[in-house]
Amino acid sequence: MSLPKVFVTRKIPTCGLEQIQQHAEVDVWEHPLPPNREQVLERIQGCQGLLCLLTERIDAEVMDAAPGLKVISNYAVGFNNIDIAAATERKISVGNTPDVLTEATADMAITLLLAAARQLVAGDQYVRGNQWKTWEPLGFLGQDLRGRTVGIMGLGRIGYAVAERLHKGWGCKILYVHPRVHSEAETELQAKKVEFSTLLAESDFLTLHCPLTADNQGVFDYEAFCQMKPSSVFVNTARGGLVKQADLVKALNEKKIFAAGLDVTDPEPPEENDPLLKCSNVVLAPHTGSATIESREGMANLAEANLLAGLKGERLPHLVNPQAFDDE
Ligand code: GLV
Ligand code: GLV
Repeated sequence: MSLPKVFVTRKIPTCGLEQIQQHAEVDVWEHPLPPNREQVLERIQGCQGLLCLLTERIDAEVMDAAPGLKVISNYAVGFNNIDIAAATERKISVGNTPDVLTEATADMAITLLLAAARQLVAGDQYVRGNQWKTWEPLGFLGQDLRGRTVGIMGLGRIGYAVAERLHKGWGCKILYVHPRVHSEAETELQAKKVEFSTLLAESDFLTLHCPLTADNQGVFDYEAFCQMKPSSVFVNTARGGLVKQADLVKALNEKKIFAAGLDVTDPEPPEENDPLLKCSNVVLAPHTGSATIESREGMANLAEANLLAGLKGERLPHLVNPQAFDDE
């Protein structure tokens, strides 16, 4: 019996490929940069399985290039790069990698939050640039975190892990926007569910942990930033598309908010001449929220388990679109 064909769109930690290689004929994209559209369309032909990254847009056209496709295993927890409705319609199971990256991503949100609040990167550049002359009573003044109000946009696993750190570690008051009341957060962290406008107006720190959907694309626009406190710090470790980036830059430059810490941008990477790169009150990271050895290996193991289950026609351990599987 011939082995099923699988396309893997980038090298991932080896632990996630070993078993796939025993059960499938695996084509791994070896280049450091992602395959372009034509290359994806070509390499997916004849495949039953696809293991892809958030850098690839997987839509109906890609799916139709491989009529035998049974499973799309995304090497990420977010799956806005995949047309889920198109996959479900074609009975293609889609898998993601939750849990294993929750703590690492929450740590990254805290890292960016504090780095932005205390102007860490600007200070680093100041020292390296030999501009530092003396201890300055008024130099690099930032924002205190202890006891402040933190707004969490999206209280899923990562949002909860961030809220827990800030409430238990810094005594912060937690406000959140989420589709439903989170009882555990309300009892354990005294968190309070609020309207979006309250989150904007009352948060000293506002951090995003919701998935990007068609409904919340660009919700953080100039008008939203103008409702925030001039002392507030904005953090995004979720998806760049939640923010109108030019509006954020305008708000940062006009000091409508104090600072921002961003692990994600739109597009990624930003264009070479993006004015964001000139803002002194923003701290940037290259989408490395889950970039710890343990998390990335955990993601590789989950992506592998999802892919193998899909090839066997079994339910994926982390299935994003149950309708593709349950309504057989
Ligand atoms: C990374 O952004 C992920 O969704 O895992
Ligand atoms: C993703 O893992 C989330 O629920 O925040």
